[in-house]
Formats: sequence, structure tokens, C-alpha cells
Amino acid sequence: MNRKNIVLEHSLQQAIKIYSNADDASVYVANKIAQIIKTKQEKGNLAVLGLATGSTPKGVYKELVRLHQSEGLSFQNVVTFNLDEYYPMHPVEDQSYVSFMKHNLFNHIDVPKNQIHIPDGTLELNAIQAYCDLYEKKIADFGGLDMQLLGIGRSGHIGFNEPGSLQGSMTRLVQLDDITRKDAADDFGGAEHVPTQAITMGIQTIVQAKQIFLLALSERKAEIIKKALKGEISPEVPATFLQQLEHVEYVLDQKAAALL
Ligand code: F6R
Repeated sequence: MNRKNIVLEHSLQQAIKIYSNADDASVYVANKIAQIIKTKQEKGNLAVLGLATGSTPKGVYKELVRLHQSEGLSFQNVVTFNLDEYYPMHPVEDQSYVSFMKHNLFNHIDVPKNQIHIPDGTLELNAIQAYCDLYEKKIADFGGLDMQLLGIGRSGHIGFNEPGSLQGSMTRLVQLDDITRKDAADDFGGAEHVPTQAITMGIQTIVQAKQIFLLALSERKAEIIKKALKGEISPEVPATFLQQLEHVEYVLDQKAAALL
């Protein structure tokens, strides 16, 4: 191993936090997010949070709701931008990420509704690119994301940046990978009913966040976590782009970390 590799290996080890179970990992991330919110509150500033959906962040949201309901954490100064939404998708559908976010977080905290942003799955095709450009502009107008919470797909995706996504990609309409559609099959009553497309923030949008937490839980993620953290940096595993960053923490339970 040459010196450059040794330095990289050392900083990667520092970026990995392994917890014995999913609850402890989730509480760690929730506390980090709460700290960002409080630090911004003390200065009278907004906290701009990039949020994810899926099974992984549910424990984080549960703890944030508890902090709000039992410990008085306010979300009045919070602005949120979700990573992605299926396309096409109506917000009232059970499978929409709008429904997910309401159910798991927004209905239970005091974040002002006009400070919530989730990509719109109801647009006409020819209106999508202008909408995506505006999504980017809104993030930039708030001064960028203070924090981005990520899960990881078994395809190696972050957000819905599937294999082949470029490092410079921004918010856009994408095709979903077969693995991703298979993993979403239960939510839609069969893989054939899962939308083939989605609107997602790009890799570039994500890496610009000031702090990134990639959370991975359960043995289902062990193989892709090994590739994402230790594999060659490549668009074939988009999560590998995060290896180049210093402001990312990989928060894992022991099962997801099993192959490291
Ligand atoms: C969700 C998202 C995806 C998920 C990933 C993991 O907003 O952007 O990248 O984080 O597909 O999904 P789960 O957590 O359901 O395994």
C-alpha cells in the first residue's frame, strides 16, 4: 500500500461508525441532525436539511419526533429538501414520498409547510427539466444543504442516482434500475407496478451538502457497503463518489458492516 492509500484508508476508518444495532445508529444520526438545528437556532439561522425516504431513515425520524414531542426540539427554523420522488407519482398515493414523509416525520413536528420541498411527480414530461433546475436554485438560494441524509440502494445508488450516473449530475429525471424496482415491489404489489422513472437530486447536488450521513442497516446492505466504501471509485457504484469527500460519515449497524 503506498502512502496515499494509507492516508485514504486512515481517513476512511475515521469516517465509519459501527453500532451494535440499528436503533443506536439511528439515534446517533438523529442527535447529529438535532445538533445542527440547535446550532442554527442559536444564531437565528435556518437549518437546510436534505432528507431521504425508504426503510433506513425511519428510526432517525422516529427519534427526531421523540425529541420534538418529549424534549421540545423545534423545527420552526428547518427547511427540507427531499432527495427524490417516483415519476409519475401523485402526492396522495400511499407509495409517494410525500405520503412517506408526512407519515414518518412532517405530521408529527412543527416544520412550517412552506419550508418543505419534495420533487413533484405530477409534472408534464416537458416541464420536468425546468422544475429540476428550479429545485437546484432553491437549494442554492437557501445557502446550500447543511446536511444530507442518505440511505444506499443495493444497486449502489444514492438518491436515485443509479449505476452510470455521473459525478457532475444534478437534479433530473432518471430511469430506475431493475434491482431498485425489485426492492420496491412489496410497496407496489409487484415489481411490474413500480414506476420506471424518478426525479432525483444529482451526485453533484448531494456532494455539495456541508455534511453527509450515509446510514446503512441490516445484512441486506453488507455487500454493497463493502463495494461503496472499499471498491474502486466508479459511476458503476455511484456511492463510491463519496469516498473522495471528507465531510461524510458512514453510520452502520454491525450487520451492514459485516464484510468490511
Ligand atoms: C430514498 C433514496 C434511496 C434509498 C435507498 C435505500 O429517498 O433516495 O436512495 O435511500 O434505496 O432504501 P431502503 O432504505 O428502503 O433500503
